[in-house]
Amino acid sequence: MLMNPKHPKDSFVVMSELVLPNDTNTLGNLMGGRLMHLMDIAAAIASQKHCNCPVVTASVDNLSFTNPIKLGNLLTIEAKLTRSFKTSMEVYLKVSGEDLYTQYKYMSNEAYMTFVALDPHERPRKVPELIPETDSEKAMYEGALRRRQVRLILSGKMKPEEAGELRALFVKD
Ligand SMILES: CC(C)(COP(=O)(O)OP(=O)(O)OC[C@H]1O[C@@H](n2cnc3c(N)ncnc32)[C@H](O)[C@@H]1OP(=O)(O)O)[C@@H](O)C(=O)NCCC(=O)NCCS
Repeated sequence: MLMNPKHPKDSFVVMSELVLPNDTNTLGNLMGGRLMHLMDIAAAIASQKHCNCPVVTASVDNLSFTNPIKLGNLLTIEAKLTRSFKTSMEVYLKVSGEDLYTQYKYMSNEAYMTFVALDPHERPRKVPELIPETDSEKAMYEGALRRRQVRLILSGKMKPEEAGELRALFVKD
């Protein structure tokens, strides 16, 4: 099947939610598990907009909660594809908070997630090529190759000897 290449802007997702009491811990901060759930959904939407078929979450890279998002603040998740491979897609997520009364905006955290497109038999299927346009999209596209190798080595799916770009970090010749 012929698939036209797409740009990151074609599948870019911005998702906002108000942080309600049921979303928070006893300190009045958004709970990490609730945030991960919303990030997973935003990234799944972005990757499905790219491949136009069902996807599953294959992996979530390091997730550090830098700044908590407070009860009553607005949570915004931006999800953007950085690169597509054969059947998988890497999505960059940027999470920010905003106090709507004072208009104070702050960064909360960032993460990369990988999604795999599935065919009707729930087997991985090919995805369209992603063509970066801006300088930052091009930089993220380049870095995606190295991040892919790290996550595949750590999950036991790739031998360090096979990691072209990162081989030197893991293997002594
Ligand atoms: C993700 C999954 C489809 C991969 O299936 P698989 O049989 O290992 O398939 P393959 O080895 O052919 O890999 C398919 C793609 O997944 C990627 N992949 C597999 N494991 C991965 C991991 N841990 N991290 C990142 N990518 C991964 C491969 O690199 C490959 O990408 P490519 O085709 O672009 O090179 C399968 O492991 C799965 O269904 N996992 C459960 C997903 C799930 O339930 N998620 C949570 C709920 S949505």
